[in-house]
Amino acid sequence: MAVQMAPSILSADFARLADEAGAVSGVADWLHVDVMDNHFVPNLTIGLPVVESLLKHTSLPLDCHLMISDPDRWAPAYAEAGARNVTVHAEAARQPVRLLRMIRSAGARAGLAINPATPVEPYADLLPEIDMLLLMTVEPGFGGQPFLDMVLPKLHRARELVTRHGGSVWLQVDGGVSAETIERCAEAGADVFVAGSAVYNADDPASAVQSLRAQAGRATARASWAH
Ligand code: DX5
Ligand code: ZN
Repeated sequence: MAVQMAPSILSADFARLADEAGAVSGVADWLHVDVMDNHFVPNLTIGLPVVESLLKHTSLPLDCHLMISDPDRWAPAYAEAGARNVTVHAEAARQPVRLLRMIRSAGARAGLAINPATPVEPYADLLPEIDMLLLMTVEPGFGGQPFLDMVLPKLHRARELVTRHGGSVWLQVDGGVSAETIERCAEAGADVFVAGSAVYNADDPASAVQSLRAQAGRATARASWAH
């Protein structure tokens, strides 16, 4: 599958979200929206009302990454509101199969996220239930953290699991993805790239997305997993 770019508005100006979305529309595939509840992660961002407003002001599909406790209770509403992707954390979901099916039946793609220290293998049987697997490459909660290289072996293993599964499951990386790290991610098996500070702290967010996409594309072309 082609490289997908998902700029994260966590590093954008929250008082100008519609404009910040507009700055990458036309070059991004999805807009990544980080929902944090100050419980699952030690930070508080935005929730459903802001997502509902954003949906009215951008044509970009919203990729909602829910870093929240009790996603079983809260996640389906994001799908019902019109988010294209709704990703929940494996560490937080109480009944993941039921929850992922609810997200899909509400019309969104279902994503499952795992933290850097969470192994991927226990979730292999969930691949038929998901459209995307998100490997966190920082501890979730904040933008601008350094990329954790220790996740790369797990990314390799995740790509093998997805290949063996045979279905179309995206493999997303989130955290510290930049010009310095995106090629390592693509070579290891990622095909969806979230970038917050590397996009919104750049002078020109749109050209940052384009250049990250080009780098990822070149790295994918030489990656063994893609052939
Ligand atoms: C962090 C969030 C990320 C964040 C990434 O917990 O899930 O989406 O925006 O920011 P950068 O790209 O700056 O590491
Ligand atoms: Zn995120």
